[in-house]
Amino acid sequence: MATATATRPRTQKLAPFVDSVEILRAPLFHTPGNTFENPGNLIALYDGALAIQAGRVAACGDYIAVRAQYPDAAVRDLRDGCILPGLIDTHAHFPQVRILGALGLSFPEWLETRALPEEARLADTAHARVVAREFVQGLASHGTTTALVFGSHFAEATAELFNAADHHGLRVTSGLVLSDRGLWPSLCHAPEIALSDSRLLIENFRDKARLRYAVIPRFAPSTSEAMLEVCQTLLRENPGLLFTTHINESPAEIAEVLQAFPGAADYLAVYEKFDLVGPRSVLAHNVHVTDAELARLAERQAAIAHCPCSNAALGNGIFPLQRHLNAKVRFALGSDVGAGTGFGILREALQAGLMQRVAREPVVLTSAQLLWMATRAGAEALSMADEIGDFTPGKAADLVYIKPAAGTPLHAVLTHTEDPERMLNAVITLAGAESVCEVRVEGDVVYEGKP
Ligand code: GUN
Ligand code: ZN
Repeated sequence: MATATATRPRTQKLAPFVDSVEILRAPLFHTPGNTFENPGNLIALYDGALAIQAGRVAACGDYIAVRAQYPDAAVRDLRDGCILPGLIDTHAHFPQVRILGALGLSFPEWLETRALPEEARLADTAHARVVAREFVQGLASHGTTTALVFGSHFAEATAELFNAADHHGLRVTSGLVLSDRGLWPSLCHAPEIALSDSRLLIENFRDKARLRYAVIPRFAPSTSEAMLEVCQTLLRENPGLLFTTHINESPAEIAEVLQAFPGAADYLAVYEKFDLVGPRSVLAHNVHVTDAELARLAERQAAIAHCPCSNAALGNGIFPLQRHLNAKVRFALGSDVGAGTGFGILREALQAGLMQRVAREPVVLTSAQLLWMATRAGAEALSMADEIGDFTPGKAADLVYIKPAAGTPLHAVLTHTEDPERMLNAVITLAGAESVCEVRVEGDVVYEGKP
């Protein structure tokens, strides 16, 4: 079992000097290009190396070549494990970490008996501070270096998440969750309050170190037109922000939306009416999407957060992945903590692969495609692909070092094959938090486990 170390301050580095080069030698996988478009875009190196300098990728390739490029660099031999780019979670809820593990409930049952009571507790800021630390530790301990996260309905609690992420050194995009109807009264706020609280949070946290801000109406059933107008105002005032919310998660939700917004042709139209759908929008779920909506999502270059564990756990259905591919709608993976089954983005990748095998239009997903979905696709969805998502030289050195403990099935597989494809398949299938040995953001160690 891995023993997690305590939260580490973000300034801690392994490299002794900021500008010295460090080489990590290990089997290494990354997807600098889209592996759906070209399977050759998977880079899989059995004897690979990553050279890191001042937190950036200086070189990535076969060990012999990288070593020749930097003959004086310190080398760390990590060949008892493997290196992947830091995992990217495009959809999770910070207040829900303590309700993970609810199985067998429908969405309305889960919302009413698990999510809303738990979220109401975050009115207590001291409590929120502890939950924020648990959430951020959950991300890091699963190898997630970047996440798009629903904050709380309370501004102070949302600030606690930003502070916890900043302290831990993770890349977190988050924001106040906006609702003014349909939820418990304590979770609803008047649009004017939502606007002023959001403005304050934006001022305090936008672009602070590794933090970014997102405008987050919870979902259409819990927001009035006035609240969606607030979202539009915030995005107009701050064009660099992301926008995220839920869409088309279940047939019952869609029926509710069409009733609440009688003029809307479909669910997407509710958000479109307020100019909320564009290249910086990430919409979660989209399981029950129409062809017309897919066409518009593609045209607007919006991205979908695909949350396969949550979709199955709540009984909401199987994501129509082939239809998204056909329509050229971008998608990446989300854990949907806490309706999902945990923080593991590799687990989401596995679940996506398994569910697509049995989908109405089955897709056989390769490990190259699943790795893309867990890393580079997430970076693209979050408009961060210039900075992270793969090991192209010049990008930030965000990585996860997976090292299974001796005696585990993953260790058995990895020590008995030199075939990179088999290794990657096994990592996606078997690597949980217990195999996460080290996580780095921009070269900084943000988490150490001890397999
Ligand atoms: N729709 C609105 N709120 C939520 C939530 O917290 N979880 C999920 N899965 N769907 C939602
Ligand atoms: Zn969600």
